[in-house]
Amino acid sequence: MNDLQTVAKEALLKSQADIFSLEFQEKKYWVKKARGTFSSNLHKFYYKLFPFEVLIPVETKTGQETIAFETSKLELFQQKGINTPKVMFKNDTFFILEDCGRNINSYLRKRDITKEQMYYYLDLLITQLANIHNNNLFHGGAQARNFTYKEGNVYAIDLEDSFENIDLEILQFRDLLLFLLSLTKIRASFDVDYNFIIEKYIALTAKTHTKERVKNLVNKISFLINLSQIKWINRLLGRDVKSFFKLFTSLKKL
Ligand SMILES: Nc1ncnc2c1ncn2[C@@H]1O[C@H](COP(=O)(O)OP(=O)(O)OP(=O)(O)O)[C@@H](O)[C@H]1O
Ligand SMILES: [Mg+2]
Repeated sequence: MNDLQTVAKEALLKSQADIFSLEFQEKKYWVKKARGTFSSNLHKFYYKLFPFEVLIPVETKTGQETIAFETSKLELFQQKGINTPKVMFKNDTFFILEDCGRNINSYLRKRDITKEQMYYYLDLLITQLANIHNNNLFHGGAQARNFTYKEGNVYAIDLEDSFENIDLEILQFRDLLLFLLSLTKIRASFDVDYNFIIEKYIALTAKTHTKERVKNLVNKISFLINLSQIKWINRLLGRDVKSFFKLFTSLKKL
C-alpha cells in the first residue's frame, strides 16, 4: 500500500525543485529537500563594513543539520501554540509538511489591494510575529513571503536559519526589520504606515525600546540615506537597495 512518505520519495526522484507540493488522498502537502544554510563571503564582508542587524550572517549548517533544526523548531512552535505546519515525516534528506494555505505575499502584493484588506493581513502578521517573540523565540526569516494565510489564520514557515552567539533580543529586532523591509515591495496604490506597524508591535510585545533601536539604526545610516537621495546615486542603486533606503527614509520621520 502507498503511504505519504513513499509517494513523496517517488515525487522526489522526478522533481528538480528543493521544495514542492503534492496531493495525497485529496490533501495537499509540501516536500522540502535537505539544503544547507550559509552566508556568502561577500555578505560577511558587508556585515564587517556595516554591522547592521539586518545583515547578521546566518550559521553554516549541512542539509542534514538544517532539517533537524527546522523540524524541531516547527515542533517547538506547535507546542507553544504558534501556528506552523505540522511535520508529517522527516529523515536525513527531506521532510514533509501539511499545507497551510497560500503565501501571504500573494495577497499583499496585489496592485488593487484595498487599505482595509492590507491592514487585515498586516494585523494578523504583526500578531503572529509578536506571538513568536512573546514566547521568547525568533523566526529567523520573517519576510512576508515566509508566512502563509489560511481561513483567517497566519502560519509561520521557513524557520531554517540559525545564528551563532547573537542575543535573542537582537534576533527579534532583526525579525522586525526583515518584516518591514519585505513590505517595501508592496505594489499598492498607497504607502504602508511603518509607524503604525512598529506601534502595534510595541503594544503587543511591550518592547518599548524598539523605537529607540530603530532611531539609533536610522542615525547610524543617515549618512548613507543622504547619499541615496542624490539623484544620480539613486539612479545607480538597484531595486533592493532602493527599497532598503525607502524604508529608512520613512523611519527617519518616526
Ligand atoms: N506548509 C506549507 N504550506 C503552504 N505553503 C508552503 C508550505 N511550505 C512551503 N510553502 C510554499 O513554498 C515556498 C517556499 O518554502 P520555504 O520558504 O520553506 O522555502 P525556501 O526555499 O527556504 O524559501 P526562501 O526562498 O525564502 O529561502 C513558500 O514561500 C510557500 O509559498
Ligand atoms: Mg521562504
